[in-house]
Amino acid sequence: MSDTYTLYNSTVMDHFMNPRNMGDLKDADGVGEVGAAACGDIMKISLKIKGGRIEDARFKTFGCGSAIASSSMATELIKGRTIEEAMNFSNQEVVEALGGLPPVKIHCSVLAEEALKAALEDYVKRNPESAAPVAKPEPVSA
Ligand code: FES
Repeated sequence: MSDTYTLYNSTVMDHFMNPRNMGDLKDADGVGEVGAAACGDIMKISLKIKGGRIEDARFKTFGCGSAIASSSMATELIKGRTIEEAMNFSNQEVVEALGGLPPVKIHCSVLAEEALKAALEDYVKRNPESAAPVAKPEPVSA
């Protein structure tokens, strides 16, 4: 038998073997790093955001093939989205775009959702004016 046995489909294998958007972004506007308590894997996503839209995204993942494929696909999917759209991003989208993951590997895609949201939160923390406008109290006159 010459073929390597794998539980992953060809799309997952492609994103694992040829990951897109790997690395860091110089002068990133938001960076999020999360870890999976169950397996110890770590994922970091960096974002470049312009005009309220994700212009570029990169990842660094220390983890399994499914985690690497999930970060690769997630960074592909979120480019061009607004902050609000990206805040609603879910791991389900990654799983569907990858054509499915083995049930025991679904949590790896959750890591991509969490890393993205952590990066967006970091961006909002650095740019509070980008968050949803909050009504300011009227100035009190003396
Ligand atoms: S097994 Fe830990 S992220 Fe995949």
